[in-house]
Amino acid sequence: MFASLRIETTSFSKRILSNRYYFRSMTTMTPQLKGTSLFKEAAFVNGKFVSAASNERFSVKDPATGEIIGEVPEMGVEDCKNAIDVATASLKTWKKTTSKTRADLLEKWYNLMMENKETLAQILTAENGKNMTESRGEIVYGASFIKWFAEEARRAYGDIIPSPAEDRRLLVIQQPVGVVGIVTPWNFPNAMITRKLGAALAAGCTAVVKPAPETPFSALALCELANQAGIPEGVINMITGQKHTKDIGKEMATSEKVHKLSFTGSTAVGKILMEQGASTIKKLSLELGGNAPFIVFDDADIDAAVEGAIGSKFRNTGQTCVCSNRLLIQSGVYDEFAKKLVERVKKFKVGHGFEDGVTHGPLISEAAVEKVKRHVDDAVSKGATVAQGGKHIKGNFYEPTVLLNMDTSMIISSEETFGPVAALYKFEKEEEAVELANDTPFGLAGYFYSKDMGRIWRVAEAMEVGMVGVNCGSVSFEAAPFGGIKQSGLGREGSKYGLEEYLERKFICMAI
Ligand code: SIN
Repeated sequence: MFASLRIETTSFSKRILSNRYYFRSMTTMTPQLKGTSLFKEAAFVNGKFVSAASNERFSVKDPATGEIIGEVPEMGVEDCKNAIDVATASLKTWKKTTSKTRADLLEKWYNLMMENKETLAQILTAENGKNMTESRGEIVYGASFIKWFAEEARRAYGDIIPSPAEDRRLLVIQQPVGVVGIVTPWNFPNAMITRKLGAALAAGCTAVVKPAPETPFSALALCELANQAGIPEGVINMITGQKHTKDIGKEMATSEKVHKLSFTGSTAVGKILMEQGASTIKKLSLELGGNAPFIVFDDADIDAAVEGAIGSKFRNTGQTCVCSNRLLIQSGVYDEFAKKLVERVKKFKVGHGFEDGVTHGPLISEAAVEKVKRHVDDAVSKGATVAQGGKHIKGNFYEPTVLLNMDTSMIISSEETFGPVAALYKFEKEEEAVELANDTPFGLAGYFYSKDMGRIWRVAEAMEVGMVGVNCGSVSFEAAPFGGIKQSGLGREGSKYGLEEYLERKFICMAI
């Protein structure tokens, strides 16, 4: 636990009264992070906390206040190459450890994460802005991948194939792919690392991880706990950096020493990495953008659908890849759904993630706010009406918003907003809803609400996505395959399929 709590009054934390929101944030309870054992202001390579070769550093800010919360090394390509060499050296021994050894170490790491849940959540809220309830939830979610893959490590079975030749025996064994490059986003600074790293380590791979520059501290805290758990040096290497992020990504994608690259982020960057990775036929896992449809049919339980939409649309202030982006509501229930949704959104409390009762924190950056503004302004200029919110509050805060009368000419129809904007479209027939839902190059998640069993099968099968939520607004579990189709990516994370992404099959043909 952090030694003390510091009460801060920031210029931003003045009481703000708007027409619709009582934005209560007189003081923020910002924990004293510096100097505590899990708050590391250094990268982690070969089992040690280290600086950049250049000795340069960059600052990380609290997105709610703009205050600097700490500094980390500004690493570049040379640091990345060094970390890859370290991971290559440690692979020699790590890949030969038994699955039981790896499972036991992962289990210890998991236990340490759970013991330090509160501290990890505080670090997460400080750098990402999500409220403490969501941060605690993310730590448990993130840790669940480590436990899951500790268990899966022992089930990387091979096969014995009935031989078509009398004098041959045919076997398939599974082996680690090798050194893995991992590039993770800021929206889940803990769980997006553990979902990849848990599988990689369980399979017997070593890794070089590049966390998002906005949220390196959650990543580095995980390294400290991995060290305490006894995970050998060089197995996990965490390089931090802001200025040279593109070059580091390119190095990971093109290096012959890196056998696989796993990336979560935008489709645009995913395409670049895929192109770069072609030079070495890199094995890839890409978890990219979405534009999730959320369909409510006339026969749905409307109260349940509203609750589902609240979670699916507004979780993490709308900043998840699986957040619903287009709410498609059948005409018979459109008005009722819209009214109930607005009533729920009015109850949100926007503010600093450390404030008691705050349900929605800031967006991550000014650029994120600009994108939300652009989407809302575009929709309104083309005829959408604002039923709730629709305004920038201050800094990185934007009002949770409900837009009505959406149509397909508006930017939100084709671009992921990644912010707290529920955009409601009206449709008449089931086929029309499915057509609208699939009218996007993306295919990550989709949701729908209906009580009709036939319709449930039809729509679940017709939706062009990797994950479907039927009568529920969330699809994320360690035991379930997470990933998309179309331009939302390649591969699956979590679940039994997640381990396969880090294993190669080797066929052995034995003459007898
Ligand atoms: C993401 O936004 O990429 C991850 C969301 C989740 O795991 O639920």
